[in-house]
Amino acid sequence: MGHILSVTSQKGGVGKTTTALQVGSIASARGFHTLIVDADPQGGAIYALNPALAEDRDTVGLFQVFCGEVEMADAVTRTPKSGLFVIGCGLPNSGFHQQVFEDATRATGLFRESLQSASQLFDLILIDCPPGLGLVSTAALGASDSAIIPIQCEPLSLRTLPPLVQQMIEIKQSINHRLDIAGILLTMFDSGNPASQSVHRQIRNCFFEDLVFQTTIPRDPALNSLYMSSPGGSGETSPGWEAYEKLFTELESTIRTVEKTTLTTQGSP
Ligand SMILES: Nc1ncnc2c1ncn2[C@@H]1O[C@H](COP(=O)(O)OP(=O)(O)OP(=O)(O)O)[C@@H](O)[C@H]1O
Ligand SMILES: [Mg+2]
Repeated sequence: MGHILSVTSQKGGVGKTTTALQVGSIASARGFHTLIVDADPQGGAIYALNPALAEDRDTVGLFQVFCGEVEMADAVTRTPKSGLFVIGCGLPNSGFHQQVFEDATRATGLFRESLQSASQLFDLILIDCPPGLGLVSTAALGASDSAIIPIQCEPLSLRTLPPLVQQMIEIKQSINHRLDIAGILLTMFDSGNPASQSVHRQIRNCFFEDLVFQTTIPRDPALNSLYMSSPGGSGETSPGWEAYEKLFTELESTIRTVEKTTLTTQGSP
């Protein structure tokens, strides 16, 4: 059974999609058969991985799997990276929310069923959640083993962190007892900016410090410019890519708590 890891935050633009893409890319390069689930109708992850798919309105995705029109294994698509696969929403707009998720219980059930079938095929399933802890993100967390919560090193984050952690605890208590916070990930740290330094220091010393990953992701234009210009391949590197490599090393023990079942099938879902 593969590990199901959501990347989630109430706040938009904090680096959820970037984190899902970088972690997915590194995981596949390290031999984990990996699926990125783009649960955000904005389609950022699928666009980064396969722009042609993102433009094609006939591409099947989660919606068609949820409706029973297609099996999960037939709805996932390859990416240019070996061992890295992706599935999108299957609907190119916010209709995804209205059409699929009539209520939280049904939504969670649909996610659980589909992702459990995917977890037979992959070592790691990364869910890129939309911003907010709405129905889609709650359902994704209801089906996940763990979650990464990226937060940007900016003053507003100090206010959003406590309610965010509280909501995670409530989801764990009410819908998914298995759910663990893999960690809070400090993103877009600007070492030259006193406000960013101050937030970084305060979050590291706060009540939740044990939940914060050791690795901090710096603000790095290499991450901003091209999602999939990830490490490896050319031998080129950057502080942002190196930080994500370190993050993956921190995460690896969490992911490896599940038995690796699919490495022998590398190259096919
Ligand atoms: N460490 C970083 N350094 C510089 N730019 C970054 C970094 N991380 C993310 N970005 C950029 O910041 C923007 C927001 O990042 P991203 O799309 O990953 O956030 P998000 O949380 O998924 O946003 P949304 O809530 O809209 O889905 C993007 O343009 C991305 O390329
Ligand atoms: Mg995103």
